[in-house]
Amino acid sequence: GDVYLKEYKGYRFVKEKTSSEYIQSLEDFEIRDSDVFLVTYPKSGTVWTQQIVTLIFEDDCTEDYQKNIERMPWIEFPMDGYDFVNRPSPRLYASHLPYHLVPKALKEKKAKVIYVFRNPKDTMVSYFHFSKMMNDLETMPSITELIERYLNGKVLGGSWFDHVKGWYDHKDQVNALFLSYEEISKDLRSAVLKISKFVGKQLDDATIDKIVEKSTFKNMRNDPKANYEFMPDHVADKKKGRFMRKGTVGDWKHTLTVAQNEYFDEVFQAKMKGVPLKMIWD
Ligand code: PPS
Repeated sequence: GDVYLKEYKGYRFVKEKTSSEYIQSLEDFEIRDSDVFLVTYPKSGTVWTQQIVTLIFEDDCTEDYQKNIERMPWIEFPMDGYDFVNRPSPRLYASHLPYHLVPKALKEKKAKVIYVFRNPKDTMVSYFHFSKMMNDLETMPSITELIERYLNGKVLGGSWFDHVKGWYDHKDQVNALFLSYEEISKDLRSAVLKISKFVGKQLDDATIDKIVEKSTFKNMRNDPKANYEFMPDHVADKKKGRFMRKGTVGDWKHTLTVAQNEYFDEVFQAKMKGVPLKMIWD
């Protein structure tokens, strides 16, 4: 297994970033009705949606908006000197937590949850490249090795299958909007509209246009407040890759062999049996 990661109830995280005790304490985290949670399995489009949601809550979309990580921090990764609790409403949080570990008030339909999922072959390929540039992750030696770990949930975030199934099975217990990366990719404007409607923000066309513009891959990649190149060098080795890597649907086709793909499909079908979640593969 990955020596860089620690596991707590199926959730795998970077040791330096949080602890089992802290994650456990989040169960009783006090939730406000106005809170908005963005929940994803890693590499599913978290930062993309983080950008969209934070811009939706910017009053006028001016250039002096805060970095998206400050406006919407990950609830399970405490940041030095940053008070996650005492913030003005609406508080925005990102999270990679599985359903069984989130604040229990979410399961009483307090707050809103936006759940974004992505084709697991693409999340896996994205993770492969991410593992090379992140100094706090073990560099995956090969796709063959990664597939084994991925299908067994021995990677950052734990099992994709458990994450997606856990959330999908309980989607009616939470106040949730489910969206796929592929859907956002296909029609960014519709996704922005859907999200703003869900969070109760009425925005005029010009503002929607601005948000769409600022959330395209190209613009985000060049936006120092959005492209995560603000990660310090000891955390991310920018010579080895960029967080905003490719941003496409179906990159797995350029990466997996026919045999690897068939093996992945076999496991996918077995594990997702009976889950009526529609996936877009390309
Ligand atoms: S993380 O580390 O879990 O927070 O990563 P996450 O943000 O979930 O996923 C990173 C992938 O999302 C892509 N991305 C985008 N794609 C399209 N459009 C936009 N605007 C965008 N922003 C981020 C990013 O490039 C990673 O995917 P890959 O396939 O590696 O390019």
